[in-house]
Amino acid sequence: MTISSTPATAVDESREVRTRFPEGFVWGVAAASYQIEGAVAEDGRTPSIWDTFSHTPGAVLNADTGDVACEHYRRMPQDIALMRELEVASYRFSVAWPRVRPDGGAVNAAGLAFYDRLVDELLGHDIAPWLTLYHWDLPQALEDAGGWTNRDTASRFVDYAIAVHDVLGDRVPTWTTLNEPFCSSLLGYAAGHHAPGRQEGPAGLVAAHHLLLGHGMVTEELRSRGADRLGLSLNLTVPDPSNPDDPVDVDAARRIDALHNRLFLDPIFRGAYPADLLEDTADLTWQGTSWYDVVRDGDLATISAPIDVLGVNYYHGNEVSGHPRTDVVGIGADHPDRVALSPFVGSEHVTFPSRGLPVTDMGWEIQPDGLHRLLRRLHDDYPRLPIYLTETGAAFADSPDEQGEVHDPDRIAFLDSYLHAVHLAIEEGVDVRGFFQWSFCDNFEWAFGYAKRFGLVYVDYATQQRIPKSSARWYADLSRTGILTG
Ligand code: NOJ
Repeated sequence: MTISSTPATAVDESREVRTRFPEGFVWGVAAASYQIEGAVAEDGRTPSIWDTFSHTPGAVLNADTGDVACEHYRRMPQDIALMRELEVASYRFSVAWPRVRPDGGAVNAAGLAFYDRLVDELLGHDIAPWLTLYHWDLPQALEDAGGWTNRDTASRFVDYAIAVHDVLGDRVPTWTTLNEPFCSSLLGYAAGHHAPGRQEGPAGLVAAHHLLLGHGMVTEELRSRGADRLGLSLNLTVPDPSNPDDPVDVDAARRIDALHNRLFLDPIFRGAYPADLLEDTADLTWQGTSWYDVVRDGDLATISAPIDVLGVNYYHGNEVSGHPRTDVVGIGADHPDRVALSPFVGSEHVTFPSRGLPVTDMGWEIQPDGLHRLLRRLHDDYPRLPIYLTETGAAFADSPDEQGEVHDPDRIAFLDSYLHAVHLAIEEGVDVRGFFQWSFCDNFEWAFGYAKRFGLVYVDYATQQRIPKSSARWYADLSRTGILTG
């Protein structure tokens, strides 16, 4: 490995060696359709579950909606030009299902044309497209037919994926099926904190199965059509029992691990749901019979269809207790993860006690060592696929100063610490090949609306002006040099 020819001191030299990323490491940014596009009724798009949910009183903070968002649908060429200016090598975006197949029905050429232009614009700026098919905007018409609790939705997902692949398959190298199925199943159908806002306990597991089935079916279909870099993005966590000597805490952490991590990793990589999870959920029924009856012969073989890359989204882990506690992290005692999981964890007292770590504006602990441990665990416990960090980042309450500049040293420090964790894992042999910062610009943060700012680029929503924050310049330098200087 080459290092700077003029290291100031031996110590600096070792620091630089430790923080130089491998040649070819991909530096990207990520975003998602509903969070940035706006233009919700243009060119034939029909409502998604997030349109319905965001227009439901009380569902989203400040009654914010994605109706206008960042106007990316209209401002896309300028946004891509700004990405180029910021040295972005790859852009992870999602396609909106209700643009491509409005109401889940016939293919809409006008909706697809937007993504056709987007991909050409990216390639024209030498930015590699990284496509996500499902980042949570299910056509409302499909939800009206049961949504992800209806097995047929998995087949509709294949129809939609084919329509996208037919148009973009020649130019998009990487195809990921799902983004964070934990959220679209358990937060959407059990906690009700996300669209479609259903609070039906076992429906969360049923939805998870059908999402995974859709993932496997699309993977097989697109593979047969020539796609050769297929995968998905999972949001994984690192649950640490509060007291490792207390069996109640250990069991609570195990159950969180089962539902947050292994519910998705095991069927994909081992072709089986975790035995402990099946035992824990054996009494849960869906439509009068065991929830597990939705799993049909052959489903797990489909779900475990080989993939080529694993996308990992990681923000934080948690200390987990099985006892009632009041010193919790997250957005209060109603932490959506806790609510999502509580029907299944065997205790109404699963809590995420504070470890006294600094937190972001989401109330999420800043915990880079968790990322290092997670990457090591994936390397040790699952097939060694190339891993891409398809999301990490932090919300902070940014605002322009008197000069109109946005300085966000906290975000720089956050990214620096998480990237050191990634680098350490790479040095130890974990095959991490890229990093997508969440997010390119401030955007609609789901149930928190526009109140949480994750962007490298500040968005003034009143004027739609984009102001690159100091973290954007910092990230551009990193992308250009591959060296962390912090
Ligand atoms: C996960 C999601 O994929 C993304 O949509 C969201 O905005 C970020 N994490 C931050 O919560």
